[in-house]
Amino acid sequence: MDIEPIPMLDMSSAKAKRAAYELLQSQARSLFEGERDWLANLSQFSALVFNSVPDLNWAGFYVARDDRTLVLGPFQGKVACVRIPFDKGVCGACARTLEVQLVEDVHSFPGHIACDSASRSELVLPVVVGGRLRAVFDMDSPTLARFDSEDAHGMTAALHALVAATNWE
Ligand code: SME
Repeated sequence: MDIEPIPMLDMSSAKAKRAAYELLQSQARSLFEGERDWLANLSQFSALVFNSVPDLNWAGFYVARDDRTLVLGPFQGKVACVRIPFDKGVCGACARTLEVQLVEDVHSFPGHIACDSASRSELVLPVVVGGRLRAVFDMDSPTLARFDSEDAHGMTAALHALVAATNWE
């Protein structure tokens, strides 16, 4: 691998955030060049996001094991809950609805699972391949209302790069 890691990105304005996510997406595409293994690519993606997106205390995947349960996958941050049923928490809501979950205050989300009491806001995105849910990508922040639609948009595009570059079997 011949990749210069990107530094912590500047997301202090809407304009900076847009440019930052473009850089993140192109770094993700470079990271996946020549590698299509899902475990390697999900691991690299988690490390890339955790080390370049500011103000996170956890970033990683929960993988869909069947139609009812998510299991902890590659991640960066503190140890976390291992199994999340589709009817529990923010990750479960994402898996159930296949919709991005943007939670400004986790304390006001019924059923939120507090793996780390430091988490105050959260963004969870579905990873759908050929119509089938493969995983959700969970980002947690210690800052209230850390995420907005620009984060959701930027991360959706980054995950598209992951999906395009990855074999899941
Ligand atoms: N916050 C998640 C649980 C996973 S941990 O935050 C890593 C949820 O409520 O779904």
